[in-house]
Amino acid sequence: MASRILTHIKQLIGTREISKPLFGIELAGLPVLNNAYLITEGEEIAGYGRMADLHQDHPQLPAEETDCSGRLVLPCWCDSHTHLVFAGSRENEFVDRLRGLSYAEINARGGGILSTVQQVAETTEDELFQLAWKRLGEISRLGTGAVEIKSGYGLTVEGELKILRVIKKLKQKSALSIRSTFLGAHSYPLAYRENHEGYLRLIMDGMLPVISREKLADYIDVFCEKGFFSLSETESILKAGLRHGLKPKLHCNQLSSIGGIQTGIKLNAVSLDHLEVVLKEDLESFKTTSWKGCCTLLPTSAFFLGLPAPPARKLVETGCAVALASDYNPGSSPGGNMNLVVSLACIQMNLLPEEAINAATLNGAFAMELDDFCGSITQGKLASLIITRPMPSLAYMPYGIGSNHIDQVMIRGEFIS
Ligand code: NIG
Ligand code: FE
Repeated sequence: MASRILTHIKQLIGTREISKPLFGIELAGLPVLNNAYLITEGEEIAGYGRMADLHQDHPQLPAEETDCSGRLVLPCWCDSHTHLVFAGSRENEFVDRLRGLSYAEINARGGGILSTVQQVAETTEDELFQLAWKRLGEISRLGTGAVEIKSGYGLTVEGELKILRVIKKLKQKSALSIRSTFLGAHSYPLAYRENHEGYLRLIMDGMLPVISREKLADYIDVFCEKGFFSLSETESILKAGLRHGLKPKLHCNQLSSIGGIQTGIKLNAVSLDHLEVVLKEDLESFKTTSWKGCCTLLPTSAFFLGLPAPPARKLVETGCAVALASDYNPGSSPGGNMNLVVSLACIQMNLLPEEAINAATLNGAFAMELDDFCGSITQGKLASLIITRPMPSLAYMPYGIGSNHIDQVMIRGEFIS
């Protein structure tokens, strides 16, 4: 088992003896150790401490040393919401939106999600795997160590299974920690636009039994929105998922507030994602609930579509656990750069750097139920780490927007190239 040591770390960030998800104002507490070391053993963090105590704590040191003078070391990003298995691109719609069309209008015309569905239908499982594999490589070099990936660009039995099988293969082959989510209810396919009942039957009788038999997903998700899936449709689909052992996640309150938050709370969703449009009564629901899930905000997606920034500060004040994710997909966030997500969360949502980093690491892990393995510098967790370039302070990371601040990334104890 390979063992490595990182020495002279200017700041070791997110050191927690015990790690628990961060609710409300706990989000601001980011423990940091100055002038630190960290030792890995195999794929895990074996220990860490102050340089001053190194020789006393560890008389015998691993041979492989990396000098991290001037650098920060932090847990890899935990990106809990992506749709990164897709084919093609949609820059034509990007230009349409610049000319004045809205995201909802483009979808209503049969573009949007359905245009990616068309491109995925024309792509083989192997090709899809190659495309997604490249994207995983790209996001891991940008510091992502754990990622959730959704289906939702198939919308037929074969199409959805094709994507979920690609995700399963990614799980088997990649060193990243991966969670899989079934999002057959992403949009009504053209053939079912006037026959919602028929499509729900297809999801429940055609897709879910195979997904559960072949263990193709960890979660079920629905795009609960005007023009997509109504509240009662959302509830039926999530309940069917639960019957097949899939816990709910939810796309809700992206374009309007139709009660998705309340339905998600009622069904004990692991996370409620987007939340650009949160009304007073929605905040009240969060305030009065004993629900212990996560609110996942997607700043690059809101920014890209010109939507209002999610009310992160209000959610924190209300006591919610806030996570940040990239929403990597061809329509609303054509990239998975979590460094940019963290910067935008500060700039547009007024999160402090410490809060944004917690939301993109430990709470991101929580939103994938991976917080026992990822998201903090804790003995026994995976040694998936970001080593920055030399920098003056932690706040420099989100402040220096657009530059690459990452020098090296370690995934499960191995440096990636
Ligand atoms: O999370 N809102 C729904 N789904 C994606 C966008 C999908 C697409 O436009 O292709 C999202 O923003
Ligand atoms: Fe999404």
